[in-house]
Amino acid sequence: MAELLRALEGASVIVCCGPGGVGKTTVSASLAVGLATAGRRVCVITVDPARRLADALGLAEVSNLPTKVPGERDGELWAVMLDSQGTFDDLVRRYSSSDEQAAKIRANRLYQNLSSSLGGTQEYMAMEKLYELTTSGAFDLVIVDTPPTRNALDLLDAPRRLTNLLENKIFRALLMPTKAYLRVLGVATQALLRTISVAAGAELVADAVAFFQAFAGMEDGFSERARAVKAVLEAEGTRYVVVTSPRPDAVAEARFFAQKLADAGTTVTAMVVNRIHPSFGPVEVSPDPSLEPYLENLAHLERLATADRAAVAGLVAAIAPAPVGELPLMELDIADRSSLMVLAGLLVGSGGASPESSTTNR
Ligand SMILES: Nc1ncnc2c1ncn2[C@@H]1O[C@H](COP(=O)(O)OP(=O)(O)O)[C@@H](O)[C@H]1O
Ligand SMILES: [Mg+2]
Repeated sequence: MAELLRALEGASVIVCCGPGGVGKTTVSASLAVGLATAGRRVCVITVDPARRLADALGLAEVSNLPTKVPGERDGELWAVMLDSQGTFDDLVRRYSSSDEQAAKIRANRLYQNLSSSLGGTQEYMAMEKLYELTTSGAFDLVIVDTPPTRNALDLLDAPRRLTNLLENKIFRALLMPTKAYLRVLGVATQALLRTISVAAGAELVADAVAFFQAFAGMEDGFSERARAVKAVLEAEGTRYVVVTSPRPDAVAEARFFAQKLADAGTTVTAMVVNRIHPSFGPVEVSPDPSLEPYLENLAHLERLATADRAAVAGLVAAIAPAPVGELPLMELDIADRSSLMVLAGLLVGSGGASPESSTTNR
């Protein structure tokens, strides 16, 4: 789709976001294949890809190291299967003052449970990985698939979350040795302590204290990093592609998502409606009665196609003039290179090179 390709021209980062299960991972991979075929050096960060898709990309297990996907003639295609915990460990290693401090943090139970207990950790780690790969200079374009996130702010604010946590007054208060201090902190603390207790079990306060003691001195490094990551998310070359399906619940979520992006001052660059019923136009009446059952099927399909387009019409209008790409509901799971190529062709042209597509090399 030429309009989509044009909207993504000059992008150095593409963030694929939207509701869960609609095809974000599939669309990220397809865009990566399409734009690599068009001659760019592309790296795609996938989040929890389906096993067969991971296989198709040559990704055996979660790993933060980009793996080169063979088969590109002009560009390069690399893929990462996000290792959220590993990314966090790298970050800790980077900002701790000694190996000892890093080891202490990694051994902390609260830290070990942080990715599941602190909302936004996986989002932040996806963005952190994005930052690393973008600044590595090895790629023209980094495409990031995102975890299922209902609120776009969880994505945009993810870098700040962790720093906020580390700078949190209540948590700092936990560093105080006296229980009396805890008692006066009231309701907000209770809620936080509940979160901690879910994560860390009975010895929660001891763990939390150890956690914040272990992190002591790293707040500034983390804050600085979070700012740098956020700057990438706000950069001109960073584009947001909202992925949805025509299902009403997904559309409602995608709409909420797009609204939150707009509220945050971020423009939706393009939208992809995945799993849409294809339309073949109005069905003619035929004089040949043997064709009747087929024409009936076709008419049925056309009604579904019309209903799908009606379901997304409001959202399409809301994000206008951003272009909208459509990917049909396929009969097979998209789990090999040739099906990715088909989707890529539908999204960004027939897989062929476009004249502008290779002009943004560093
Ligand atoms: N257009 C499509 N037609 C048929 N199946 C699809 C299509 N897009 C995605 N799928 C399948 O749907 C499942 C979920 O897709 P995925 O990309 O993992 O969604 P998300 O990342 O949004 O959770 C996968 O098994 C994928 O192969
Ligand atoms: Mg996914």
